[in-house]
Amino acid sequence: MFVANWKMNGSSQKVENWLSSISSSQNLNKCIFCPPNLFLEEAKKIIKKNNLDISLGAQNVDPDIEISLTGGISPSMLKEIGCNYVIIGHSERREFYKESPELLFDKAFSCLEKNLKVIFCIGESQEDRDSSKTKEKLSEQLRLLSDLNLEDFSIAYEPVWAIGSGKIPLLEEIADIGSFLNKELISLGQKQDEITILYGGSVNTSNAKQILQLESISGLLIGGASLDEKQFLEIIG
Ligand code: PGA
Repeated sequence: MFVANWKMNGSSQKVENWLSSISSSQNLNKCIFCPPNLFLEEAKKIIKKNNLDISLGAQNVDPDIEISLTGGISPSMLKEIGCNYVIIGHSERREFYKESPELLFDKAFSCLEKNLKVIFCIGESQEDRDSSKTKEKLSEQLRLLSDLNLEDFSIAYEPVWAIGSGKIPLLEEIADIGSFLNKELISLGQKQDEITILYGGSVNTSNAKQILQLESISGLLIGGASLDEKQFLEIIG
């Protein structure tokens, strides 16, 4: 599984160019394209017109709650527009929008109710890493999943210090965290064949293949490098 997280980048023209450039890949069916919400409809039209076997995902969603919410976008709206996936818990949203575990739970719960698959991001900060608290921090972030049905849940392990920095953990560290998360997810009630653990944070054409070879990692969440169609194509193979 390859998630292209465009963050706050792109335009409708770029969506069109990007989709046409990657359309010949044999692995298109393993890709989830997450442009800004504003371009999802345009992307859906192009995907439909050209019969492309790629999934669409949103970078954010609001929970279905009984209040009026100016600017809100609900899971059913995303579903209607053709999304099957949503990214929840990205560190940029936790940090800049102060998204709390309670809010993340409500978002995830609302998505699962509408059959939207959740890509749930977790990761330790540089400070957590320096004080050997990585696993403790990850377990804490996973805790809110204990009351959710995890059938349609993937986890993206994204060390906060690795995002956009050009730095990644050692491969052994990623492998170790992958196995650790696998055990944690089993203890939270997810079945082994439902578990998908992705790695994200400075994935590029030079490190992607090695990360993908790790047994505990089944995909990549790609930010910066997904914007360049040549790099993205090389990563997905
Ligand atoms: P990056 O971003 O690949 O640019 O580091 C990853 C992400 O946060 O989605």
